[in-house]
Amino acid sequence: MLKEGALQGKTIIVTGGGTGLGRSMVKYFLELGANIVICSRKLDVLEKTAQELMQETGGQVLPVACDVRKYNEIEAMLQATLDKFGRVDVLVNNAAGNFVSPTERLSHKAFDVITDIVLKGSYNCTLALGKHWIKQKQPATILNIVTTYAWTGSGYVVPSACAKAGVLAMTRSLASEWAKYGIRSNAIAPGPFPTEGAWTRLFPKQLADKLDPVKRIPVGRFGEHQELANLAAYLVSDYASFVNGEVVTIDGGEWLYGAGEFNAFDMIPQEMWDAMEKQMRGKGQ
Ligand code: HXC
Ligand code: NAP
Repeated sequence: MLKEGALQGKTIIVTGGGTGLGRSMVKYFLELGANIVICSRKLDVLEKTAQELMQETGGQVLPVACDVRKYNEIEAMLQATLDKFGRVDVLVNNAAGNFVSPTERLSHKAFDVITDIVLKGSYNCTLALGKHWIKQKQPATILNIVTTYAWTGSGYVVPSACAKAGVLAMTRSLASEWAKYGIRSNAIAPGPFPTEGAWTRLFPKQLADKLDPVKRIPVGRFGEHQELANLAAYLVSDYASFVNGEVVTIDGGEWLYGAGEFNAFDMIPQEMWDAMEKQMRGKGQ
């Protein structure tokens, strides 16, 4: 979508960049000329992704094992980034954990494990990078990957909803507070984009026949990874220099469809509309 070389000279850290949507964003950032650091807990996964993407794109990827819940590991990842590339310009907080469950079945540890990865992980990375950028007097950009239930809420994913809401609040808060340092903060709220990580934990096979998630999406399909990568690349690029504090929804209309009181009337066939209209018309006389 963007011009060739649009991210040339930028170094971008993508947490959880070894798999799923993180990997897809990384691939496009590389194609646009960026240097990349990917981090997560599984170094073997990161190394494989790094090798594959460097081969495919000719770009530079540094894989670093780092649990975003641990501040010292983030500081070490930042140092490794500076040692390799000499600078860092963009942080993409993409790492997450999630599973579906009735809330009353969760232990307090189950609640912790999700909020720690999503909220604590995102503020840990943001704080470490923000301190560095402010000290260096360097302009920079933060992009947070949230969800549409960050503002609607959602049953059965309550720890994730709490944590993503916190990340969205951080996005908007720092957009105001850190703009004076030249640091922009934005977020993307994706609807369903098929990834192994999300699908195995959120749409178990037993549910597939009963609840087809595509039926809730007005455009009638899931998102394609390149569509999200296009948006992410724009938001972290200099083309978006005046975009700050925004959350961009990319969900084919899914959350508004769920919110609209009468949208489920989609299922009403034409003949029934004819009959209902006949019944309703003329009631004003
Ligand atoms: C209830 C559960 C549970 C479940 C784990 N627990 N799974 N409780 N229902 N299905 C509980 C455990 O019993 C334990 O509590 C606590 O959670 C921690 O368990 P661990 O064994 O440490 O965790 P584990 O189950 O191994 O891993 C959980 C995880 C893992 C860390 C979240 O799934 C993970 O690594 N996920 C990363 C990738 C991911 O989740 N990607 C999806 C992102 S999708 P006790 O008390 O028993 O010790 C996303 C998109 C949303 O966010 C929007 C889509 C449209
Ligand atoms: P994914 O492939 O499972 O990605 C999650 C990544 O986070 C993994 O690479 C995982 O790697 C990493 N991670 C988990 N815990 C970590 C920790 N403690 N420290 C560092 N890294 C950690 O899932 P995805 O679908 O691509 O999700 C990516 C992002 O999009 C998430 O923020 C998710 O909430 C969001 N999202 C996805 C969808 C969708 O439909 N797919 C919809 C809305 C929002 P390790 O296991 O190696 O640590």
